[in-house]
Amino acid sequence: MGVIQNPGDDFTIDQDWSAYTGEDHAIWRALFERQSKLLPGRACAEYLAGLQDLGVAAEGIPDFARLSDIMERATGWRIVAVPGLVPDDVFFAHLAARRFPATNWIRSPAQMDYLQEPDVFHDVFGHVPILMNPVFADYLQAYGRGGLKALSLGALPKLARLYWYTVEFGLIATPEGLRIYGAGIVSSHGESVYSLESPKPKRIAFDLLRIMRTQYRIDAFQDAYFVIENFDQLFDATGPDFTPYYARLKSMPDIAPGAGVDGDRLI
Ligand code: PHE
Ligand code: CO
Repeated sequence: MGVIQNPGDDFTIDQDWSAYTGEDHAIWRALFERQSKLLPGRACAEYLAGLQDLGVAAEGIPDFARLSDIMERATGWRIVAVPGLVPDDVFFAHLAARRFPATNWIRSPAQMDYLQEPDVFHDVFGHVPILMNPVFADYLQAYGRGGLKALSLGALPKLARLYWYTVEFGLIATPEGLRIYGAGIVSSHGESVYSLESPKPKRIAFDLLRIMRTQYRIDAFQDAYFVIENFDQLFDATGPDFTPYYARLKSMPDIAPGAGVDGDRLI
């Protein structure tokens, strides 16, 4: 990418689409083709439908403005470009306004399989298709509002686990079988297979307080995944005011990433 820009108060920048090189677009296409072969039968129907409806994304790194026009018609969400991770309060304020902050840079050819920080492929290929689904779209907006509240209550570490185990690493049990909806999984070649097929991780039925007690790792495939039955379940379970939950969680011990506890229903 070209010139570094100074972000504004909301940390948004211009995507500067014309600055992407042929190599940048080729990396996107290679990642896109690899994942779109792998995901039928693995990603949930809602994600795959969103990906299909965002057809322009197959050609190369998408122009956020074009993609946003399609999303806006479907669910009222838009994508805004940011230079990388943004402060929590800024991130939540964007979500609460139905704006998804997406990094504008793309990984190098040496990073096809592994990245610690989100790039444009993770942010757009991973997060955007599922935002074409109306229920998930409402869930992520509600999460943004809830994030601002959690910040004021000092409860962000608990709420961040909910994002991790749903938005990033969520699985869904469908009549056809277990499927992926989490962005961290659908954008990862290795984890798309591991999360569904490896005998190593635990797959535990969704339980809100259990999730908010569970630590996670950012440096390797997950040791535990939480499985929802449908997006209404997720939306309804997170509807109530979390203030009393945060109070209860203060006296409940954290759970290590791969540990089991009484009451876990394994899928
Ligand atoms: N209902 C939650 C609260 O009161 C907000 C929220 C919604 C949090 C959806 C996460 C997901 O804090
Ligand atoms: Co992400």
